[in-house]
Amino acid sequence: MKDEIDNRDERVANLKGLGCSRKRVEDARFTQGKGNYVDDIKLDGMLFGDFVRSPYAHARIKSIDTAAAMEVPGVLAVLTAADLEPLGLHWMPTLAGDKQMVLADGKVLFQGQEVAFVVAEDRFAAADGIELVEVEYEELPVIVDPFESLKSDVVLREDLDPKAPGAHGPRKHPNHIFTWEAGDKAPTEEVIANAEVVATESMYYHRTHPCPLETCGCVASMDKVNGKLTLWGTFQAPHAIRTVVSLISGIEEHNIRVISPDIGGGFGNKVGAYPGYVCSVVASIVTGKPVKWIEDRMDNLMTTAFARDYHMTGKISATKEGKITALHCHVTADHGGFDACADPTKFPAGFMNICTGSYDIPTAYLEVDGVYTNKAPGGVSYRCSFRVTEAVYFIERMIEVLAIELNMDAAELRRINFIKKEQFPYKAALGWEYDSGDYHTAWDKALKAVDYDGLRAEQAQRVADFKAGKTRKLMGIGLSFFTEIVGAGPVKNCDILGLGMFDSCEIRIHPTGSAIARLGTISQGQGHATTFAQILASEIGLPADSITIEEGDTDTAPYGLGTYGSRSTPVAGAATAMAGRKIRAKAQMIAAYLLEVHDNDVEFDVDRFVVKGAPERFKTMKEIAFAAYNQAIPGLEPGLEAVSYYDPPNMTYPFGAYVCVMDIDVDTGVPDIRRFYALDDCGTRINPMIIEGQIHGGLTEALAVALGQEIAYDDMGNVKTGTLMDFFLPTAWEVPNYETDFTVTPSPHHPIGAKGVGESPHVGGVPCFSNAVQDAFRPFGNRHTNMPHDHWRIWRTANELGLHD
Ligand code: CDP
Repeated sequence: MKDEIDNRDERVANLKGLGCSRKRVEDARFTQGKGNYVDDIKLDGMLFGDFVRSPYAHARIKSIDTAAAMEVPGVLAVLTAADLEPLGLHWMPTLAGDKQMVLADGKVLFQGQEVAFVVAEDRFAAADGIELVEVEYEELPVIVDPFESLKSDVVLREDLDPKAPGAHGPRKHPNHIFTWEAGDKAPTEEVIANAEVVATESMYYHRTHPCPLETCGCVASMDKVNGKLTLWGTFQAPHAIRTVVSLISGIEEHNIRVISPDIGGGFGNKVGAYPGYVCSVVASIVTGKPVKWIEDRMDNLMTTAFARDYHMTGKISATKEGKITALHCHVTADHGGFDACADPTKFPAGFMNICTGSYDIPTAYLEVDGVYTNKAPGGVSYRCSFRVTEAVYFIERMIEVLAIELNMDAAELRRINFIKKEQFPYKAALGWEYDSGDYHTAWDKALKAVDYDGLRAEQAQRVADFKAGKTRKLMGIGLSFFTEIVGAGPVKNCDILGLGMFDSCEIRIHPTGSAIARLGTISQGQGHATTFAQILASEIGLPADSITIEEGDTDTAPYGLGTYGSRSTPVAGAATAMAGRKIRAKAQMIAAYLLEVHDNDVEFDVDRFVVKGAPERFKTMKEIAFAAYNQAIPGLEPGLEAVSYYDPPNMTYPFGAYVCVMDIDVDTGVPDIRRFYALDDCGTRINPMIIEGQIHGGLTEALAVALGQEIAYDDMGNVKTGTLMDFFLPTAWEVPNYETDFTVTPSPHHPIGAKGVGESPHVGGVPCFSNAVQDAFRPFGNRHTNMPHDHWRIWRTANELGLHD
């Protein structure tokens, strides 16, 4: 086979490898209606299951009468906890070491809780059946405030021994879940007590929800003849789901096949296991037919995996010149009725202990108390890495409050305190070792790009004009500098339900020089099929267009822990590069044999092995692939395949510098985002176009959370924002034109130097939007107001500051 391309630059371009803005290969099917989502799966004789849900947030169940529902034509079964109990399936373990009712067992603990599962021939008959299930409730006192919960005589979890410790140690109260600490308490308190300047602030990071466009769902199909269960579902971690299903059902793991087909967004919502999965499996076993369960929008918003709900109190101390000396943080974490947070086992508050942020803070202490309330369970990392969003919001607000206390410019305060380039790898006071960073360069670039000094001068003029009655619009300059922590493992630190957080890639090169690679992760829109092929193209010298990427089928993909927390690139991306290197090592031996030289006498060059010093003598990877299958090479097995299970030595620490310029109409509370500049550093950039798309998406979700998106409850535990009429999802109307920029500081331990990026814009974006609102009111005495900054709350802030007088 003669290689046709001799020009090296052309050969590099032909690969479409690292750094190429390759168009997304997935989009052909997504844009032409050929995606295959869970609800597209239709099997012969398939039934539909749906839930009777509790209208009450806290109530005892006196009785459930299913007789009338069973009379509805098409209804085949109604499952209750009593049916699941003999199977031991009326409760299920949560990812956080707690347990959760699959169907209400004696009482309900949140509005929308699953009470009974109606199985029918179609979803309409199931809906009719649901209407006729008679449930007699006795209302109980409702607690929606975690502080009240810790004082209350009302015991929410009657199933737990009130005095017994929980999964994370001793409990202080029957409604208390855990206390988790990091850092040094006494030294931190001492530094703060003796500090020249101390700023104290309390803030609430409100409850919200990932709200992917596709809701959660599954199809369970039990083949009783062969003893095989196939489960299609919206799973962000298909292998973990297979293991969990095996552990709770007793079906051996090799008899379970879990398939995540196309997924319409996850953002953390599809990590955990939901009662719908268990009930569908049971219903399929009972009826012998496939059973589908698909949530509607209200089910999704009201009952699956919430995010945030952290009440945070901080103290930050500094010298008069602005050098930070200590940080103290206490969190009261509202976990709802069951502790179903999706965090690595050793971190019940996720990675909240990254809350010292991008700053060199010598002493710090964090304490988190988890609390039960009458709200839905969950606690997932909504487009972030296990509570890093809360941590970054906390520190970026504390910096702003400290700047007010010091009467100092907040950009300058950040600059004074950044971890310096030469301090990396940097061991933070709360335990993490940051791998690499160059914060000053990024910050200077960002401030220059937006003409920060010019903006401040304009703002000062605006304040003067406002006071002179010449305008009713204020101007806010939102700043944020964030450090993310993404790529969980390493296995020694991070596991979920005892499963170490490595990831995997298996590659098969076909004789004609094309390939398939299978990974333990699963794309939910991030473009893995495009970008992982690019990593391989650069590693093995075959064009990305000749490489198929497959994820999400546990019968074919190697075991992996899935996609969330921007871990795909740091962990599975690394596995992909390492598996590619194994392929290359074998290819080198084949090339040397074909060229009749020693292994060390050939070197890799883009898409071929070349004899050192004799560039005209080479074998292309295509030729080598063919030889692997048709030549008997002494000492080598035929074929060209490799697998890598990658346990990362550390997480990666992407960072970024964001600036938001906002005008606020004091009389209507309406913000107008005039400019948003986002500089991201995610190390080596695999596909700049996809990175840009990720940043646009993350910023838009950040805008949503900062400016209106909320899961709100009334005192009775009713969800006030259970539809998209009330739950804010931004559209093109609200979204500004984002300006993106970058620096490149590779990760020193990742095989290609890449860090994650998918969630960074969300993590950095929320404080940036919020700081812009707060900054507009700073000249008028504002210190802190809680998100979400919807029009009403912004108006109220203006009103409280006397700006309507
Ligand atoms: O885990 P998840 O896929 O959500 O997040 P990620 O690892 O940050 O990757 C999101 C997308 O951005 C993937 O398609 C990555 O390959 C791509 N990416 C990139 O092109 N360069 C990076 N340095 C990081 C991610």
